[in-house]
Amino acid sequence: MNTEEIFSRSVLEKPESQRASRSNASLDLTRLMRLGWNENPYGMAPEVLKTIQEAARKGHLYQDFWCRDVKKAIADFYGMTPENVIMGAGSSPLIEMTGQAFINPGDEVLMCPTFAAFNDMTEVRLGRVVTVPLKENKGYDLNGLLKAVTPRTKMVVICNPNNPTGQYIPYEEIVSFMEKLPEDIVVFFDEAYIEFATAPDCRSAVPLISQMPDKPIIVSRTFSKYYGMAGVRCGYLLCSRELAAGISRIPGSWVSRDAQAGAVAALKEQKYYQSTKKQIVEGVAYLERELAALGCTVYHTQTNFIMFDPHIDCEKVREEIIERGILISIPMLCRVSVGTETENEYFIQCMKDILKNAAVA
Ligand SMILES: Cc1ncc(COP(=O)(O)O)c(C=O)c1O
Repeated sequence: MNTEEIFSRSVLEKPESQRASRSNASLDLTRLMRLGWNENPYGMAPEVLKTIQEAARKGHLYQDFWCRDVKKAIADFYGMTPENVIMGAGSSPLIEMTGQAFINPGDEVLMCPTFAAFNDMTEVRLGRVVTVPLKENKGYDLNGLLKAVTPRTKMVVICNPNNPTGQYIPYEEIVSFMEKLPEDIVVFFDEAYIEFATAPDCRSAVPLISQMPDKPIIVSRTFSKYYGMAGVRCGYLLCSRELAAGISRIPGSWVSRDAQAGAVAALKEQKYYQSTKKQIVEGVAYLERELAALGCTVYHTQTNFIMFDPHIDCEKVREEIIERGILISIPMLCRVSVGTETENEYFIQCMKDILKNAAVA
């Protein structure tokens, strides 16, 4: 078999995926404390779990292909219509779908260093990723993005708050950026973590969809993080009806019956999720304080993970902490997800140990 002959150009010309999760394939993940993938340690609300269990009884029947109830629930949640909503089995397939809908070979996609799915989305369509460096404080550089616009720019990706930095862009800066950006450039806002934010000016771009009707704006959200449903797989895009109609021509991922039912139930359980958010925000404060006390440079986060510089080799920290039973990620520097109180304390104990050993070595 000559793979050079049978694979499409998009496969042959695509570089290796940059997704950090691929490098964990050989680990026994069932035995590790998972502080590497920004999962929510408190999980789903009990009512959501019950709803999913009930939905699973009908697992032998196909789900509602049109996702009518969940689209309606999401639309109501935002004061929009179901025609503004596109559903996916998590937001990752929706990112791929957006790439398919908009990117032609040679198109430029502007972004600062962010979630690697956006590289994949572009490269698999034979588009060109144009990466604008982060600012010195690791913030997303909107002015840098504006300066990088060329006639080939097709899309700008803004991850707010950003993964892996945890940094956010104040709302006023987003509005001013959008006012200056040419109208024919698609803007994709990834807001996977925005529900965890506590800064008053860390706000969703969703209102801009109706306030700037001439701009092609897409916002992605997920039930994986704040709603603790990473393994259930449910995410969605919000955009104008015109954009949604176009994107929907791309065959998408089917959202299971369990995921649809779980998502509808989750939106009703805001009290539960506000209380788990409180615990996560307390966990953030604890981890940030303790890591700083250990001499690490900590980038104050608006998410459920923290990026920090341990001032020793991050790869070594990752290897040593895996030996102690904890999974973290090193997409740029070290990144740790907030766990339960016990997990956070154990993580800090391990970091103390690792940094102390490195100091005497
Ligand atoms: C910034 C960002 N966007 C999107 C996703 C995809 O999440 P999911 O496919 O579970 O919705 C992730 C997952 O870690 C992420 O960090």
